[in-house]
Amino acid sequence: MITFDADTRRFHLAGDGFSHVFRILETGQLECLHFGARLDPAGPFEALERSFPLAYGSTTAVDATHPSLSLDLVRLEASPWGRGDYREPSLIVEDAQGDRTSDFRYTGHRIVDGKPLCPGVPGLYAGNDAGVETLEIDMEDRPRGLKLTLRYSVFPHCDAEVRWVCVSNSAQGPARLLSVSSLNADFGPGPFTLTTLDGAWIREYGVTRAPLVPGAREITSRRGVSSAAHAPFLLLEEPDTTETSGNAWAFTLVYSGNHRCRAEVSPHGLTRVQLGLDPLHFSWTLAPGESFESPEAVVVLSDRGRGPSSAKLHTLVRQHLVRGPWRDQARPLLANTWESFYFQFNAAKLVSAAQKAKDRGLELFVVDDGWFGKRDDDTSSLGDWIPDPKKLPRGLRPVAEKIKKLGLLFGIWVEPEMVSQNSDLARSHPDWIVQGPSHQPSPGRNQQVLDLTRPEVRTHLVDAMTRLLSSAPIDYVKWDMNRNLNDLWSPSFSPERQGEFAHRWVLGLYDVVGQITTRFPGILFENCASGGNRSDWGMLAYFHQTWLSDDTDAAERPIIQHGASFFLPPSVWGAHVSAGPNHQVLRRTSLEARFDAAAFGLVGYELDLAVLTPAERTIIDKQVLWYKDLRLCLQFGTYHRLVAPGANKTTACLTVSSDKTRAVAAWFGGLAQPNVLPQTLVLRGLDPGAVYKVEARPQATDIRPFGDLIKQALPLPLKLNGVLYTLVADRYLMPLEAPVFRARGDLLMTAGLPLTRPFHGTGAAAGILLGGDFTSQIFVLTQEVSP
Ligand code: DGJ
Repeated sequence: MITFDADTRRFHLAGDGFSHVFRILETGQLECLHFGARLDPAGPFEALERSFPLAYGSTTAVDATHPSLSLDLVRLEASPWGRGDYREPSLIVEDAQGDRTSDFRYTGHRIVDGKPLCPGVPGLYAGNDAGVETLEIDMEDRPRGLKLTLRYSVFPHCDAEVRWVCVSNSAQGPARLLSVSSLNADFGPGPFTLTTLDGAWIREYGVTRAPLVPGAREITSRRGVSSAAHAPFLLLEEPDTTETSGNAWAFTLVYSGNHRCRAEVSPHGLTRVQLGLDPLHFSWTLAPGESFESPEAVVVLSDRGRGPSSAKLHTLVRQHLVRGPWRDQARPLLANTWESFYFQFNAAKLVSAAQKAKDRGLELFVVDDGWFGKRDDDTSSLGDWIPDPKKLPRGLRPVAEKIKKLGLLFGIWVEPEMVSQNSDLARSHPDWIVQGPSHQPSPGRNQQVLDLTRPEVRTHLVDAMTRLLSSAPIDYVKWDMNRNLNDLWSPSFSPERQGEFAHRWVLGLYDVVGQITTRFPGILFENCASGGNRSDWGMLAYFHQTWLSDDTDAAERPIIQHGASFFLPPSVWGAHVSAGPNHQVLRRTSLEARFDAAAFGLVGYELDLAVLTPAERTIIDKQVLWYKDLRLCLQFGTYHRLVAPGANKTTACLTVSSDKTRAVAAWFGGLAQPNVLPQTLVLRGLDPGAVYKVEARPQATDIRPFGDLIKQALPLPLKLNGVLYTLVADRYLMPLEAPVFRARGDLLMTAGLPLTRPFHGTGAAAGILLGGDFTSQIFVLTQEVSP
């Protein structure tokens, strides 16, 4: 609900659980009075207002008629540079005289139903939520002929605001934007703690939490993509906030390029949060009459801890960001060829692998990198999106049709934004490569970036992809992007406009993916950028899901997913069971643990199914059946982080179906600890009055993890790695302890779910979980008696 009280010139934006109150100052700036827990819209709100009877020390006054008002001491909704606010500005605009001082003042506003979408820019949509409203506030810097519109869309049931700004030039001469934040949120005195998601390739989404101190904490991407280095995400909390209690404000940006997210504590202890374009490689010329729309930023509030802030972001992604017929559909279990074959395959091998996938109960077969041009390694052929005549002499269609005949969906990998120097595309259009006028462009993974700022390049890509996606019955596309941008420059702009390149390139990308996804609405699209180098909300406005990380190790993946869950729901993250030892860290973990890690996402198998032992085949068959039964809950349920990863990599999570009748809890054990008592897992989100049947997912192991010790357990003369040992190891499965019990929701959410007693060195017995490092346990909860 958005209201405006004309007498007090106060706005009140309210969700189910939050209130945002701000007023128009006499001088026309907007002062934030409250941005936190819900207040009764009836007010009165006088107690939120502060007056400034006398100037403070060395402050600068906003103007001569208000000598005691310093904007430096005010919580502002927008903070364009100038007029005495010395914190980071939310907007810097230089006019034709080179003057950067702005003085934007309120001129009017509108409250409209729903949420507008800006063409060509990804955004959230109101959908079926009739409660969504948008406030647009106009401000003007009259002397310079500049206009600023602040937009606030309130999603009341998610306690969310979507915010973005538009700057227009109505002056006679050009103006130049030098810095634009989509959102500026000023808070009162802290203290606050800030959480960011930081990482790198194969270790995405590490959680960094630190108290804010005077000065700024800033994360940026200057890589042309939103990047694995710092996800465009901030979580601001009061210091005692936990997963379940305290105030939390979670922010993200609906954007896939260079970004800056920062929090600053001013000398007077005011905290300012800003999210927007990174100003380092940015400037944008506005000719007279032109406007600039910033990307959207999102903030959700929770006064019940950071857990609900994530859950609200998850709902926004599921219901107001992801689009198209696949949005609410159960996602198919897939087999992917990348870590199974890398570049080494042909048509016969693919069809045979697809048959193996079908035998295991999988539903979608994805041919990853290596099917096009002459691509036997990563040094060639990007850009030549025609089947490799050696590997697929009859093209894609016959292979796809054979695979579809098996009863599988068929998927393909592409990397359209890129070009290999060794490709027909680069040879015929060398000028389409992003490069400066003076240097050879720097390579990344042996490839170059196409200049998506150029309309002819975009047209070529849309045509090439349209031809490819129409050439065979393709149900799924993995859209990859394997390098950062560099050498930012384009011959299509004048020298003064080169600062527009990074943002224009991202807008070019949105144009391409917008056209392709509109032309092929039935295709399931998965976003990928060397894993999670661009797993942001901008891409999710076009693509249904995203490949979080190339790291599928059973120890690392749950930790990566824990971090990602701060702003992405499991309904969008692809998670695969890969080979052991793991190809990224060479760690050996059990097939069951690898599955348990993947189970809390969109499961796929990315290992050679032809080389499985009979025992492994049996394990996978059971996993697949189990996942199919529970996937709606696992993919679309409410996700809870239960245990944050510690030094020994233990972590735990839970997902609960929307009607609370089913839930799945997982404990990822990390490094085995000697001689410890079993732990309990305190659950959340269940129906407190309902009785749940709790069943551990039955797991099995072959004898290999026990090495020589197995002689003590089996009545066979087994010589370690001898013929008999190998024969038994390949076929014989030992069931692991799988307790079944009943408990009421309130008990599970207070006393907790008892984990099985871990192996502690003194032998095997019923009631002991025979697992070492990185053993996991999953429990399925099914409501038996409704309250
Ligand atoms: C990087 C992706 O993250 C991988 O899954 C795989 O598709 C490779 N690219 C292929 O080159």
